[in-house]
Parts: sequence; structure tokens; C-alpha cells
Amino acid sequence: MIAIAVANIKGGSGKTTLATHLAVWLASSGVSVVLADLDRQRSALTWTERRPPELPAVRGLDLSRDWAPVQGLGVVIYDIPAAMKRKDLEELVDQLDALVLPVLPSAFDEDGTRRFLDLVAEFKPIRKRRLPIFAVANRVRGRTVAARRLETFLEDIQQPAVATLRDGAAYSAVAGTGRTLFDEPDARARDLLRDWQPLLDAIRPLVFGPSSGR
Ligand SMILES: Nc1ncnc2c1ncn2[C@@H]1O[C@H](COP(=O)(O)OP(=O)(O)O)[C@@H](O)[C@H]1O
Ligand SMILES: [Mg+2]
Repeated sequence: MIAIAVANIKGGSGKTTLATHLAVWLASSGVSVVLADLDRQRSALTWTERRPPELPAVRGLDLSRDWAPVQGLGVVIYDIPAAMKRKDLEELVDQLDALVLPVLPSAFDEDGTRRFLDLVAEFKPIRKRRLPIFAVANRVRGRTVAARRLETFLEDIQQPAVATLRDGAAYSAVAGTGRTLFDEPDARARDLLRDWQPLLDAIRPLVFGPSSGR
């Protein structure tokens, strides 16, 4: 099983949004996907419960009380809570093939990201640089000062943004209906989804093998 976690210490950075979108992108490619929710708020799980049955299936798994590694075929996406016990986080990181780190353009998010990276820095797969970390600049508004600042911040911490996702009202519009922009055929969704391409290109070889190309 391929394991990907979406994590950051900061709440509201887009973890569940990224986790649900990656799950649907993979499910649409025919991959068997488990979305494992470790957050007490159970947002990802609620999303799977609302997902219309005719859409590509994403199986929800409630790990909000007890964390345990998910085994089997396909891909598991872990939606990680803002606060997780260090020991549990270390055990989880040990299972991972990739870590996706959403960061918003705000000073609070920068602080949270720094703290998160400090927390995981000594974990073996990260210390040995075996685990790819994909930073994603999220909810970015055009060429603003905040956008530029976030870009500089991520470069400074040696985690340049793999992808930059624009702020789009469509994200919250679909969230409550168990869908993602990958389920929406309209032009607005397609336009916002162009932002995802570099992240999908980074994840594709992990799931489909090194020769899966672009
Ligand atoms: N790129 C984006 N554009 C607009 N809204 C977004 C974007 N990413 C996330 N959101 C919204 O921000 C809020 C917090 O996102 P969420 O994924 O729940 O964060 P987390 O899981 O890290 O707490 C949600 O209302 C979500 O719809
Ligand atoms: Mg969440």
C-alpha cells in the first residue's frame, strides 16, 4: 500500500481539502483509495459519508480515536489533525511514501509550519531525506505581497512550493457535498485544477511507478 499524509500543525491550512482532492484524483484513475481520518473533528469522514455513490469511490476510515497503520492494496491518504502525539506522528511518518504540507499565506501559518518541520526533523525518514515532503502554497491570491512572502518563506526553509493553489470559492462550495473540483466538469473547476498539475506530477510516480511520466 502507498501511504500519503496531509499534515501541518496549523488548523485551516487546507489539509482536508487536499486530502479529499488527492483521494478523488486517485479514485478517478481507478486506484483503490482509503481516506483515513485521524482528526477528532472527523471532517474527512463526514465528507466520505456525504459523497454521492455514483462518483468514484473513496472509502472513509475512522482513526480519530486510535491511530493504526492502514494495510492493503491501493493508496491510503491520512488526514492528520493539527495536534498529534509525537510518538504517534513518528510511527505514522515511518509508514509514509510522501508527506503533503499545505501552508497558507499568513505569519501564523509560517510559524506553525516551522514548528511542524522542527517536530518531524529528527524522525528517521526525514532526517535521512528518504521521505519526500511536498509543500503546497494554498489559498494564494494572485501576485500579492502575502503570496510573495509565502514563496520566500518556503524557499528559506528549503521547502519550495511544489504547487501553488489559488484561493477559490468553489473549494468550500463542493466540500459540503462530498465532492471535489475533480468531480466538477465545469470550466471554473477545470481552471482551478490547473494549479494541481505539479503536485499530481510529483505524486504520480509514487503511485503508478517511475515510468508513469507526465
Ligand atoms: N484553495 C482554497 N481556496 C478557497 N478555500 C479553500 C482552499 N483550500 C481550503 N479552503 C477552505 O478553507 C477552509 C479550511 O480548509 P480545510 O481543508 O478544512 O483545512 P484543515 O483541514 O487544514 O483544517 C475550508 O472551508 C475549505 O473549503
Ligand atoms: Mg481538516
